[in-house]
Amino acid sequence: MTAVAPQTARSIRPAKGKLGVLCVGLGAVTTTFMAGVENIRRGRSKPIGSLTQMGTIRLGKRTESRMPLIKEFVSLAALDDLVFGAWDPIPDNAYESALKCGVLDKHEHVEPIADFLKGITPMPAVFDQFYVKRLAGTNVKQGKTKRELAEALRKDIRDFKAKQGCDRLVMVWCASTEVFIAPGPTHQTMATLEKAMDANDPSIAPSMLYAYAAIMEGVPYANGAPNLSCDVPALEALAREKRVPIGGKDFKTGQTMLKTVLSPMFKARMLGVAGWYSTNILGNRDGEVLDDPESFKTKEESKLGVLDNILQPKLYPELYGNIFHKVRINYYPPRGDNKEGWDNIDIFGWLGYPMQIKVDFLCRDSILAAPLVLDLAIFFDLAARAGLSGIQEWLSFYFKSPQVGPGLYPEHDLFIQLTKLKNTLRYLKGEEQITHLGIEYYENE
Ligand SMILES: NC(=O)c1ccc[n+]([C@@H]2O[C@H](COP(=O)([O-])OP(=O)(O)OC[C@H]3O[C@@H](n4cnc5c(N)ncnc54)[C@H](O)[C@@H]3O)[C@@H](O)[C@H]2O)c1
Repeated sequence: MTAVAPQTARSIRPAKGKLGVLCVGLGAVTTTFMAGVENIRRGRSKPIGSLTQMGTIRLGKRTESRMPLIKEFVSLAALDDLVFGAWDPIPDNAYESALKCGVLDKHEHVEPIADFLKGITPMPAVFDQFYVKRLAGTNVKQGKTKRELAEALRKDIRDFKAKQGCDRLVMVWCASTEVFIAPGPTHQTMATLEKAMDANDPSIAPSMLYAYAAIMEGVPYANGAPNLSCDVPALEALAREKRVPIGGKDFKTGQTMLKTVLSPMFKARMLGVAGWYSTNILGNRDGEVLDDPESFKTKEESKLGVLDNILQPKLYPELYGNIFHKVRINYYPPRGDNKEGWDNIDIFGWLGYPMQIKVDFLCRDSILAAPLVLDLAIFFDLAARAGLSGIQEWLSFYFKSPQVGPGLYPEHDLFIQLTKLKNTLRYLKGEEQITHLGIEYYENE
């Protein structure tokens, strides 16, 4: 059996100095992320849920027993080297916001780090209620044109970097979901996009201005919400031209994560699916924003795409050609950030006999999302130091609607995504890819 030739390791700049993590939005997810990192740094908690902090990676043959921690295998920014900044139209600092969001226990995880949280005050946001109907804020930048606003964001980025003495920066969109916008003519090239920015065209949402500002400043950009943001041809091309890593969309946390685990199982066993009904109750600000039909439409598109891509109804019309798929999010304040997601799945097996699966996931939205923000910040920084640019498909693992290059369909299966991620790390370090073939253990050379 011929072994796969080892790769040449890519040169990766070492993770020296401070990494500034700029979050757009200082709400539930961002404050849970920042407060979590600080609690962990002070030895008060463990980084549960974070692959960069707790994950290992197998190298070489199974007989070699080489399984280092990922953070020991590749050079990653250390938690102690992270510094944080944010923009938000609501002027609350991270301490006030964390208390209002009510995700973390005040006495256990907020008060002991109050000094740290009070030091994070949001910069004035580029915000327009046209794009997030259920939100109003006072901490908002003024500018005659969208281009001017984007330039103001670029200045914020440069000022933050200088003031904090950062070596590198990354930006993660953790702000509210904007109304649905279909990619159109203004999004095709940088010339059309910049012209539209100058003309205050409504097809240019604030999330595109943040993405534009980040890329222009050479800052990797990850989009944790389903709005288009950097997922337009003009910004993809800009990211390639400026050699900046980008990616999105929409953190894959609760119900959709379960979907991307359960549906590959049905397909692997050739079990049919007749219907999948998903509903949620959620009482945080995100739930309130998503109660607006236009913001929900953006989320719905992101949640609905998953099944089609995994189950491939065109390839398997008898099994998946006629699925009734419905997704609802209902704003229900008493639950706060503690979402409850129900799934009813109607499947069918041998000779067409029907069966049902019911899932009731009592999850905590921001507790699931916070470690994803950390991993994305750390891996996007790695991507930049390794000279990767444009769409980072290997980080699809973290997203509900992974951004992919033209002509490619996204990979949604969580475990294929994990394999892709770890194989990319092996590739960067010049280690053999793991194919799981395994025949070499049983056949002689
Ligand atoms: N499990 C999860 O929590 C999860 C999963 C997937 C995606 N998301 C997405 O992550 C985002 C954040 O979720 P959250 O629970 O923290 O919501 P949140 O409402 O608590 O926080 C969002 C913050 O963004 C701010 N904001 C809105 N528009 C802004 C702009 N243009 N510039 C700067 N700030 C702006 C809001 O004022 C708010 O403080 C949402 O879009 C949500 O859909 C969350």
